Amino acid sequence: MSVHLDAPVTPAPLPVLGTEVCAPLADGTEIPYAALDYAASAPALRRVWEDVAAYLPYYGSVHRGAGHLSRLSTDLFEESRRTVAAFLGCRPDDRVVFTRSTTDSLNLLATSLPEGCEVFVFETEHHAALLPWQRTASVTYLDAPRSPVAAVATLDAALAARDTARPALVCVTGASNVTGELWPVPELAAAAHRHGARIVLDAAQLVPHLPVDVAALDVDWVAFSGHKLYAPFGAGVLAGRADWLREAAPYLAGGGATRRVARTADGGVETDWNTDDSRHEAGSPNVVGAYAIASACRALAEAGFENLAAREQLLLGRLVSGLAELPRVRVLSLFGEGAHRVGVVSFVVEGYDSSAFAAALSDRYGIGVRDGLFCAHPLVRLLTGAAAGEGAGCGEGPLNAVRVSFGAGTPEEHIERFVRAVRELTA
Ligand SMILES: Cc1ncc(COP(=O)(O)O)c(C=O)c1O
Repeated sequence: MSVHLDAPVTPAPLPVLGTEVCAPLADGTEIPYAALDYAASAPALRRVWEDVAAYLPYYGSVHRGAGHLSRLSTDLFEESRRTVAAFLGCRPDDRVVFTRSTTDSLNLLATSLPEGCEVFVFETEHHAALLPWQRTASVTYLDAPRSPVAAVATLDAALAARDTARPALVCVTGASNVTGELWPVPELAAAAHRHGARIVLDAAQLVPHLPVDVAALDVDWVAFSGHKLYAPFGAGVLAGRADWLREAAPYLAGGGATRRVARTADGGVETDWNTDDSRHEAGSPNVVGAYAIASACRALAEAGFENLAAREQLLLGRLVSGLAELPRVRVLSLFGEGAHRVGVVSFVVEGYDSSAFAAALSDRYGIGVRDGLFCAHPLVRLLTGAAAGEGAGCGEGPLNAVRVSFGAGTPEEHIERFVRAVRELTA
């Protein structure tokens, strides 16, 4: 997408809550808060809040009652599943399972792997995508590639050497939560399938910024979180192929996931588990969370990703070119010059501790960003040049970075204020 940096920026296309909240500054004054930490948790869309508020008087149990509001809530929950499936371009036989988050979704898939499964994952992944597999599979950790082409070649070579008698899964991010850089998902999916492996897409940072079409990308599963998609009501999604999920033991044991439970002659309990989406949704479903995600999906689809992405790229261009003028600022990048990215940028400032820098942005400018290793320690260590063992925890260590991130609710003024603040703090 080519971007003319001096083109006018339209007002934020999707109004969010919190724009009138004031942040206290160190000098005792206040300023409207600039939320520039969307990659951690995005503010709620006003539309999502209104939809949830309109529903709440009708709130009732899901799949558990014959009363009017239970039936209405059950319909709403199942309708939300269909809305998410349509938003993700799911294939007719795909499942949409409501979870708590991306972390929960990937852990669910990790417990659903077939016997003997091998998992292939780049060391650059968020911990939610890096860590769940070692509990249930043998894992091959792939070295960080320095270009999208190298990513495909690295995966291709690793899969070519695998034992094809065993099932295999590749887990890959769509957009990095550290650099914002886009990964070559269709090409990685093609490589996985060429070698008889399956692929799950961690779309936590992709789905708020760009369309994700499961069928067109040809990924087997996709995982994301509601709270990064402007729907902070405690739900997430795992969508994709039914077979592994159907054959796996239920993620949680409990009510709602069972067809029949009966005592056995030997004094035990025998259970027939459901084989549909509810198999992995034991316990009372989070209908508010699911409905909020569906509402966000509808709002994003109506606004049109083309418009949202074009505006975001304009703001991103201004942010990145503003930072590029500052000699003490180094923007972190895995793929280097010209890499495509979403509205997520991490950087370090020479001579400045990142935590102190983030605190100064808050105390002096009312700007909220993230500092730390962003739950992607190996990647941040690689990009900041830290030795293994340094910067041990999120927020600790000398080689943390600062991350600024934004989206469909961000006004131009927040980006301008941020660039001005960084310029003044590094002068
Ligand atoms: C790329 C990526 N994957 C997974 C996660 C985990 O998301 P959650 O904390 O909502 O489970 C995050 C969160 O920052 C992320 O950025």
